[in-house]
Amino acid sequence: MTTLRAFAPGRVNLIGDHTDHTGGWCLPVALHWGTTVEGTVGGDRVRLTSDLDGSTVDVPLDATTRGPLQGWARYVAAVVDAVGSPRGLVGRITTSLPVGAGLSSSAALEIALALALGFDGPPLALARVGQKAEHAAVGVPCGIMDQLASVSGIPGHALLIDCGRLEVTPVAIPDGAELCIVDPGQPRSLAGSAYADRRAACAAAEQQIGPLREAGPEAVAALEDPLLRRRARHVVTENRRVLATAEALGRGDWAAVGDAMVASHESLRDDFEVSTPLLDATVRQLCATPGVYGARLTGAGFGGCVVAVCEPGALPSAGTVVPSQGARLLP
Ligand code: GLA
Repeated sequence: MTTLRAFAPGRVNLIGDHTDHTGGWCLPVALHWGTTVEGTVGGDRVRLTSDLDGSTVDVPLDATTRGPLQGWARYVAAVVDAVGSPRGLVGRITTSLPVGAGLSSSAALEIALALALGFDGPPLALARVGQKAEHAAVGVPCGIMDQLASVSGIPGHALLIDCGRLEVTPVAIPDGAELCIVDPGQPRSLAGSAYADRRAACAAAEQQIGPLREAGPEAVAALEDPLLRRRARHVVTENRRVLATAEALGRGDWAAVGDAMVASHESLRDDFEVSTPLLDATVRQLCATPGVYGARLTGAGFGGCVVAVCEPGALPSAGTVVPSQGARLLP
């Protein structure tokens, strides 16, 4: 009997939110927190018990023999289908990621499970399997950032992802500051219509002015509908902030990184309208703390976490980010 363990990390996005679905740029970091799937290979089903609540899901490999599925069984079935010719597995799943906190716990589950079920394609193909499963499991038309960050992590680095070309460029994180995560405790669910609604607005803007990744401020200003104009302005300015932040990291300019993060938060709050009063208050409070360079909501918004950069030790009660290696089979 073969046993195996597969691990996939969650991610925190330093900057560049709601840019991936129009082929823009983002700058996530793979976390040291993640999800592990371990078990014995074989059989005609995937049967896994979660350490989070002790629940077990039991999904036949053959889609035609499945009844209606609920909860995280939907993710398992979606990964089984997306992998192509998966192998059966009986085992358990453990995670060090908070669920629903905007740190890509679902991407970590999808990627770890795909590896455990025998997917052995290249990293980009693995990320696409996870993205396809996310679309199928919860119907959220997410971009590729979360899954690509989970498969591409490099210790000590952020990942500059060009979501149009699907290229990942590692950016070394210089000394002199810490990345921190603060969870104000407002769970996020993307399954609502808000994410799809924002994505549709971006697509509508692109119908009028062409790809947002190539658009400048003049093209955005030409949009007549004020709502579409604001949505597009967020994406166009956010893409520029991502590239500027990657450069600032290269020169160790943490003040510039912090300024870009604050501008990103304001744009997500005012133009893209995905922040919440609690996230805004958390960012304000962090930015007023001595030693903090900047802070912003991270991920889709509508709840979830805040990411901050600060002088080492300035936020003792926040979680410190350890930029880590991407998904892998463990020995
Ligand atoms: C979610 C999606 C990602 C991305 C972010 C916002 O995490 O899964 O694809 O769109 O929101 O940047």
